[in-house]
Amino acid sequence: MTILLVDPDPTSRSSLERSLERWGYRVLLAESEGEARTIVRSRTPDLILSGLPVAGRMGVEFLRSLQEGRPGRRILLLTGRHEVEATVEAMKAGVSDVLTKPVDRARLKSVIERTLASGIASHDPPSAKANGAPHPTHGRTKERAPEPVESDVGFGRFVGRSEPMLEVYSLLGMVGASDAAVLITGETGTGKELAARTIHDLSARSSAPFVALNGAAIPQDLVESELFGHEEGSFTGANRNRKGCFEMADGGTLFLDEVSEMTPSLQPKLLRVLDEARFRRVGGRKEMRTNVRIISATNRDPRTAVEDGSMREDLYHRLNVFPIHLPPLRERRGDVALLARVMLERSRRKLGVSGEAIGEECAGLLDRYCWPGNVRELRNVMERAALLAGSGPVEARHLPQHLRDDEEPGDFLQRLPSGLTAAELERRLILQTLEDTGNNKAEAARRLDLDVKTIRNKLKKYRN
Ligand SMILES: Nc1ncnc2c1ncn2[C@@H]1O[C@H](COP(=O)(O)OP(=O)(O)OP(=O)(O)O)[C@@H](O)[C@H]1O
Ligand SMILES: [Mg+2]
Repeated sequence: MTILLVDPDPTSRSSLERSLERWGYRVLLAESEGEARTIVRSRTPDLILSGLPVAGRMGVEFLRSLQEGRPGRRILLLTGRHEVEATVEAMKAGVSDVLTKPVDRARLKSVIERTLASGIASHDPPSAKANGAPHPTHGRTKERAPEPVESDVGFGRFVGRSEPMLEVYSLLGMVGASDAAVLITGETGTGKELAARTIHDLSARSSAPFVALNGAAIPQDLVESELFGHEEGSFTGANRNRKGCFEMADGGTLFLDEVSEMTPSLQPKLLRVLDEARFRRVGGRKEMRTNVRIISATNRDPRTAVEDGSMREDLYHRLNVFPIHLPPLRERRGDVALLARVMLERSRRKLGVSGEAIGEECAGLLDRYCWPGNVRELRNVMERAALLAGSGPVEARHLPQHLRDDEEPGDFLQRLPSGLTAAELERRLILQTLEDTGNNKAEAARRLDLDVKTIRNKLKKYRN
């Protein structure tokens, strides 16, 4: 395989050249646009790795010119400062992926391999929407790529301008225009569902339905009929024919939330539909065809789920064509202040008040807190603060107690009323954790190191 490396900086050029050669690629070198143009006239590199600045018209024109007559040409871009604007422009010009300088070599190697191997970079001929119903395409088609909505605070409905999030935005933009299966990972409240919706909105399927199914929220014995639908009389309680998610999402996107919680018995059935695009309703005879794009999410590490046997490896690979990881808030502290401001504004707008800014001491506390519930927790904290502060400045006293004191777990034990039983303590701990996780049983189970099943059973018991 031949790679054309375009980089005006001699130091980074020769170091990249060495790496590429070590990985077994033949390397052509260019230090300017002009040189690159000359080379591509006579040679046909399998991939172009460009470190030229892309911001502004010239950069984009250059990328376009490389695509002329060769719309499938694979281009990877190395940008000095990772800017959403430049990335969006580059994507419109047909770039396969964007990496930030200095480039991590392991990542570069894997991105190059993925780009050369996968269908994501190969541009299928456009399957014009006008020709009828959308059908699966495995490539990005420039003509159809919708524009990601960029804003000065984030991307689409995402707020945050930290480096890790800019990287996420560029992945969302890229994968949105393809039909690839996406697996979104990240802790509770990091925006996995928001990411899934964003991908759908950016895709050619955006006018068709987005259907979400949460594998942990409904009893396991009903998941199958939720997915595939059922025929009247197929089991007790099935008193009507009912469409399942695969039918409802037809032509659109099916979001499988908490996918690692689906029972082992269901997984082969799911895999079969994904492979064959055909299924039967529970108790049904007729084979139905389905055309859905699958996005799945989990707040567990999917590889651990594969290792401990709760997720089939073949299913994991089928779902994980394009992984996107949403970093926890504590790893992008720079976003906290911005998110707090925006969430406060939104809450105040809902309340119909305008008010003063966040006080310094309060901002300090927000900054230091570890945010185990991530953006959802921050949003809840700011909603509450908006109520309490009215139109005055938001102060430390408007924050929940646990943000105000950096107490040790030992202090907490001392404050427990004596005479509290272990069972009652457990009950309070489970309910509190569920509240902190937005009633997300899978995440609560992970934090408490319990089985989801155990939590479900306890909840049932508490209700009685
Ligand atoms: N970066 C962000 N900017 C703005 N809002 C966000 C951001 N991330 C998450 N949110 C909001 O926080 C809430 C929680 O996000 P979401 O439901 O997508 O999280 P999740 O990762 O699916 O969590 P869980 O694993 O608990 O289901 C939503 O209201 C979402 O809109
Ligand atoms: Mg979710």
